[in-house]
Amino acid sequence: MHQKKVFGTKDQKSLVDLYAKYVSEPKASFFTQIGLGLIQAKREGIKIHMLEGEDGNGPLELIDCHTSGGVFNLGHHHPEINAALKEGLNLGLDIGDHHLLSEQRALLAKQLADLLPGRISKTMFSVGGGEAIDLAIKLSRAFTKRKKIISAKRAYHGVTGFALGACAPSFKDPFFWDSPDFLQVPFADINALREVMDEETACVLFETIPATGGILIPPEGYFREVRELCDDKNVVMIADEVQTGLGRTGKMWGIYGGLYDKEQVVPDIMVLAKGMSSGVYPLSTTSYIPELESVFEEDPFLHISTTGGSELGCYITRKMLDIISTPSFLAHVENVGKLFGQGLNKLKNDFSDKIVDVRGRGLMWGVEFIDDFTSLYFVLSSVRNGVFCDYCGNHKATSKFLPPLIISENQITEILERITTALMNL
Ligand SMILES: Cc1ncc(COP(=O)(O)O)c(C=O)c1O
Repeated sequence: MHQKKVFGTKDQKSLVDLYAKYVSEPKASFFTQIGLGLIQAKREGIKIHMLEGEDGNGPLELIDCHTSGGVFNLGHHHPEINAALKEGLNLGLDIGDHHLLSEQRALLAKQLADLLPGRISKTMFSVGGGEAIDLAIKLSRAFTKRKKIISAKRAYHGVTGFALGACAPSFKDPFFWDSPDFLQVPFADINALREVMDEETACVLFETIPATGGILIPPEGYFREVRELCDDKNVVMIADEVQTGLGRTGKMWGIYGGLYDKEQVVPDIMVLAKGMSSGVYPLSTTSYIPELESVFEEDPFLHISTTGGSELGCYITRKMLDIISTPSFLAHVENVGKLFGQGLNKLKNDFSDKIVDVRGRGLMWGVEFIDDFTSLYFVLSSVRNGVFCDYCGNHKATSKFLPPLIISENQITEILERITTALMNL
């Protein structure tokens, strides 16, 4: 039965119990044990409101510096996105039939092609990032007729089949996901990559800035060399821009100027997700150079996704792209990102007994602590001080911040003040 009230239909404890009983006992226990019964309630702009604070007294309002890894690039309930959602429904859009040709998919793909670098101009649609990575790997295998996939140690690309195979062992070992065709090399080590790449290699798949791996910034020139190696061995280069794409680095694409102004590398396939949803309608894309389309010449229905590329989703995503691709929007991300980076580096100096490194680009930052424990405790302390950040799953000593791209200078200052208090309380 649908109720008019959405948030707080029961008290917090009853909802945690309900969640434990019917969704996940381990997850409910995790949050309860760390003293936070975090049930998200109303979301608005850069804020997430909690149903109740810790024991009824904790922060009721958090500044969202997690954004589900960039899902909420435009914050929560951006008025133009909400309007597009309603408009799309009123215009008669729904998911659309996945076999039929689609006006909305064509229009969104054209808009993407205009924004994507180099000759990347074809797009296929999925629902989530893992599915879109799976498709990228499938394309590389079918095109090259080779099997080997090379990714980075500590990588995270999703939990679906091929994507999981390219992830760090912590994610795949419990499921006995083991294949000699999936190799992993240390990130940003070009010699290690050169050693394992051979005539059997179908693709090289890297996150531009590995997020779960610890917000790692490769040295200038690294991706240029990866490109050269791929060209040399006819290997497909896949950029996972699920977190770094769509303006996160202050440039449209991390790999194309976002890491280093003068380093503009064009992969063969670029994968986007998270922010593509505009926070309201799941949608992900696998965009590629035209040659790769030969994979579908014999059978255009070789790869299908029933709910991937919903027409309603495409309509909203087109609005999202209109907003984030304007030069003033990207300049804003670059400016507030610099302010945030400077503030975090100052904290590194002021708390040099706790913080060992600060890394990032645009509005994607990692703060590396002396050990895992300090980092985890910092995250908890930040939440208690009203800032929702997270630690990197495959490098727990690093805490990460991905605030909404619409964040203002004053809000950045507020975050820095709040996490300073969090550090003082460690
Ligand atoms: C870099 C990267 N790639 C892929 C994915 C998978 O995306 P999804 O959770 O939508 O399947 C994630 C998710 O966190 C990610 O961070």
